[in-house]
Amino acid sequence: MSQRKKIALIGAGNIGGELANLCAQRELGDVLLFDIPAKADFAKGKALDLEQNGAVLGYDVSIKGTSEWKDCAGADVIIVTAGVPRKPGQSRDDLVAINVPIIRAVADGAKEHCPNAFVIVISNPLDAMVYEFQRRTGFPREKVVGMAGVLDSARFSLFLARETGMNVKDIRAMVLGGHGDDMVPILGATTVNGVPVSKFVAKEKLDAIIARTRTGGGEIVKLMGTSAYYAPASSAVAMAEAYLRDEKRLLPAAAYLTGQYGYKDFYMGVPVVIGGKGVEKIIELELSDDEKAMLAKSAKSVSEIVEVVKKFA
Ligand SMILES: NC(=O)c1ccc[n+]([C@@H]2O[C@H](COP(=O)([O-])OP(=O)(O)OC[C@H]3O[C@@H](n4cnc5c(N)ncnc54)[C@H](O)[C@@H]3O)[C@@H](O)[C@H]2O)c1
Repeated sequence: MSQRKKIALIGAGNIGGELANLCAQRELGDVLLFDIPAKADFAKGKALDLEQNGAVLGYDVSIKGTSEWKDCAGADVIIVTAGVPRKPGQSRDDLVAINVPIIRAVADGAKEHCPNAFVIVISNPLDAMVYEFQRRTGFPREKVVGMAGVLDSARFSLFLARETGMNVKDIRAMVLGGHGDDMVPILGATTVNGVPVSKFVAKEKLDAIIARTRTGGGEIVKLMGTSAYYAPASSAVAMAEAYLRDEKRLLPAAAYLTGQYGYKDFYMGVPVVIGGKGVEKIIELELSDDEKAMLAKSAKSVSEIVEVVKKFA
């Protein structure tokens, strides 16, 4: 009989808790909810609450809170949300000074205890944090990926569904580039079940929806005083499930580029295929001249923040 999978969630805050909830409800494996020693009891309490929830909802996996890396040893999947989220008025890049030392500490723990894990980084600024995690651990690049594109595409899909009056299930959207305000919606890959979205939405409306998508994270930060967590957690779980069940899903994600789209040596959002080997392929789409220009702008922002992180002592 095959053993149950082990999923280590690093950061037991808002996204970490919802990740645990989804992993448990989908019975993806046993869950470790890891946080710093000062939050160990908090993590244990959240884990216990979620484990008891299984008695009501009818799932049975082990969920444990911990601040000890040895409990995470041998994890099959690690999802990293350790760090601080944005407050109103902050950009993702404002988080660098606090989150770089945190991602390095997490990378060191993961390297020692979970060398074979598939790692999904969520902490912001996303493209730079996933870069730093891979650089620090030296893990194979196909086993370290950043979550942003699934979430950004979900936001774009929802706004298009509301505008067209059609079911969000039928909207296919693709948002690429860095996880910042210059992310790049790809209209050629955005359809209502295969029918180009331009058939249903006029250009000015589409432009307004794209603008709202780009600032979609900030809209929620302004309303709640902290970052979104339900949709970010679901997005990462879709990626984890694609790996654990070898689903070969085509999803937008921050992947290490080695010349694709004309860029290399950093992570940025591109369409990838995720399966049992991790990022099994990077798909190169035909882009319009406008999209190429937008991607260049986004790539410039990402590489600038990566340079800041590289020099961070
Ligand atoms: N990629 C995306 O699309 C996306 C979307 C939303 C939020 N985010 C980012 O995700 C991160 C987490 O957001 P959140 O709302 O869950 O924040 P949160 O503050 O609720 O939780 C973060 C947790 O990380 C813990 N932590 C800090 N240092 C740690 C360490 N060294 N090891 C383990 N845990 C540590 C904190 O104690 C806290 O419990 C933020 O950086 C946020 O900006 C990314």
